Amino acid sequence: MEELQTQKNTALEAIEAAGSLDAVEALRVDALGKQGWISQLLKTLGKMTPEERQEKAPAIQQARAEVADAIAARKDALENAELDRRLATETLDLSLPAPDEARGTVHPVSQVMDELAEIFADLGFAVKTGPEVEDDWHNFTALNMDEHHPARAMHDTFYFPDRDKEDRAMLLRTHTSPVQIRTMVNEGAPVRIIAPGRVYRSDSDATHTPMFHQVEGLVIDRDIHLGHLKWTLETFLKAFFERDDIVLRLRPSYFPFTEPSVEVDVGFEIVKGRRVLGGSGDAPGHAWMELLGSGMVNRRVIEFAGLDPDEWQGFAFGVGVDRLAMLKYGMDDLRAFFDGDIRWLQHYGFSPYDQPTLSAGVGAPA
Ligand code: DAH
Repeated sequence: MEELQTQKNTALEAIEAAGSLDAVEALRVDALGKQGWISQLLKTLGKMTPEERQEKAPAIQQARAEVADAIAARKDALENAELDRRLATETLDLSLPAPDEARGTVHPVSQVMDELAEIFADLGFAVKTGPEVEDDWHNFTALNMDEHHPARAMHDTFYFPDRDKEDRAMLLRTHTSPVQIRTMVNEGAPVRIIAPGRVYRSDSDATHTPMFHQVEGLVIDRDIHLGHLKWTLETFLKAFFERDDIVLRLRPSYFPFTEPSVEVDVGFEIVKGRRVLGGSGDAPGHAWMELLGSGMVNRRVIEFAGLDPDEWQGFAFGVGVDRLAMLKYGMDDLRAFFDGDIRWLQHYGFSPYDQPTLSAGVGAPA
């Protein structure tokens, strides 16, 4: 009996002193495992007479319970100590604000197209689109550039190897002007549209990319003259650049699809190394910059589109959307528009929550 007490006390002290969960486990096996000394003692009970068993059993049971409790308590203590240690060393600062959700931006080209749609909607223009894979009749012939027209060579066209069902050569449209033809053919007159979209030319340097964007404008009605063209362009450019001092210069030019044709220049000055539009190009410190092509729609084009040129007439214009974006928002390398660099997009992109409106100003807030 005394031996049991000594053995038990030794075990309890060892458990109390155990420095790790592994050490506690070793002590458990030593006492309560299959071959453990307490398990062995419990086995001997089976071989005793009932009287003997009655005398010895309580002390053994007692020892087993005390040792088991001590092991459980020591395990708990060691686990809590481990948790305290981790809580003290691993810091999780719950006071930090949650990071902003990642949010995309509206590409400047899309932004400018939205601005154009808003401005021209106010003038009664609808937005039209046409296919980027065009045939050479819509892209050239119907625009008064027949097969051997030298102007075709100006366009560095990407052709497809196959021809379409009507045996027309297929190409990537070189300008948005074919949408003029498609709209007149499909809808007749009168017409008041803009047609923004992608166009393609085999051309590549800092100011030319093989794909770029244009917006076409077309007005066809019964009494349209050059004055309407000039007023429309002036109104559009003043709204777009949000300046009342935009001054235009119309210069005689040549496009196969307009007659007469005018190149439209806009006055600007250099402020802190940037071109700022406004003022006459003839004013001191100012100059003219070529901005867009336009003119009165050539009667042959109206005919090609199936309308009577003695009844219907109008004006058209075409301008680079990317160029408008660069002039308004200050980018200087066109190629970066199409690199998809997220840093550029974060810098020059626009919030999807700011829709351009005429009342609030079509420009996005700085
Ligand atoms: N299509 C011409 C180009 O891509 C631009 C243009 C000039 C369009 C005059 C027009 C226009 O509608 O009248 O270079």
